[in-house]
Amino acid sequence: MKYRRLGKTELKVSVIGVGAWQFGGEWGQSFTSQEVKRLLDRARDLEINLIDTAECYGDHLSEALIGQAVEKERASWIIATKFGHKFPRPFERIEQWSPQEVLQQLEASLKALRTDTIDLYQFHSGTDEVFAQDDLWTMLNRQVQAGKIRYLGLSLSSRIDNVYQTERAVQVGASVIQVVYNRLDRTPEERVLPLCREQDLGVLARVPLASGLLSGKYQPGMVFTQEDDVRSHQDQADLQRRLQRVQEIQQNEVPAGMAMAPWALAWCLQHPAVTAVIPGCKTVEQVETNASAADLELVYSDHPQALPK
Ligand SMILES: NC(=O)c1ccc[n+]([C@@H]2O[C@H](COP(=O)([O-])OP(=O)(O)OC[C@H]3O[C@@H](n4cnc5c(N)ncnc54)[C@H](OP(=O)(O)O)[C@@H]3O)[C@@H](O)[C@H]2O)c1
Repeated sequence: MKYRRLGKTELKVSVIGVGAWQFGGEWGQSFTSQEVKRLLDRARDLEINLIDTAECYGDHLSEALIGQAVEKERASWIIATKFGHKFPRPFERIEQWSPQEVLQQLEASLKALRTDTIDLYQFHSGTDEVFAQDDLWTMLNRQVQAGKIRYLGLSLSSRIDNVYQTERAVQVGASVIQVVYNRLDRTPEERVLPLCREQDLGVLARVPLASGLLSGKYQPGMVFTQEDDVRSHQDQADLQRRLQRVQEIQQNEVPAGMAMAPWALAWCLQHPAVTAVIPGCKTVEQVETNASAADLELVYSDHPQALPK
């Protein structure tokens, strides 16, 4: 495994993390605590030390499964979670951004994760309006002082232009940006990633496999029919366009004999602003394949505009 400093923080994260939305039950599968423990034990054997979860992957469910699995070796892990929502039922979220509501969420996350401190506490894809509440950040920075949070981060929404929040990250006390970045979605290269480099913000690239499409195992025409799989709720015409793109990329860019999933993760890690990728994992085999991306050195650079001048 390889490790990188996460922006200005003192955290050294493995370049491959584990995304844990999957444990909340919206990816066509529910998980027992034994399954999550097996998966995370294997990740730890492979020297992965970063987990990304959230308050609303189930009602603190993903956090609770992680808490049970890592309680005994808590110090081996850097746990990132998020705030801003209540989870009433699958595929629904109620936004809750007042300082009092977020404080309650923090206490619930600490309890579910069975820990005294959260390593990275992220603003979960809120609007600029909710971001702009000074009293929210005052309350959160007090929790940092009190030791309940080590660092604050912003998990940017994929629905809005993210420059406003990225420019104000340091001002609100955040050291890390989480953003959708993958071979199919390179928008952050234009503004967000350069801003992160300028401010020495750590960057977690989320959805690095484009919701599994960049694993190369799905062909154009694939229809996700399972009601409890988030991909059956996505725009199906757009999904087909993306599958076509994946097929072209697989033919034209992935070196012969190289599996596409680790290639796609290594592709994200080439960008000089990106600290780590957090692919969502459902099986031990996926963890193993994803971890192998740390050893790949892609032989070309596809990010000329992002390289230092
Ligand atoms: N707003 C936010 O803050 C936000 C939003 C989205 C995600 N996230 C975070 O980012 C993480 C990653 O994003 P994501 O899970 O949405 O998308 P992703 O990482 O692009 O895709 C994950 C899916 O890819 C498939 N997969 C993973 N590894 C594979 C491998 N080696 N070979 C083949 N298939 C593989 C699995 O699904 P199948 O096997 O079913 O294909 C898995 O569920 C999440 O878990 C979550 O922690 C945060």
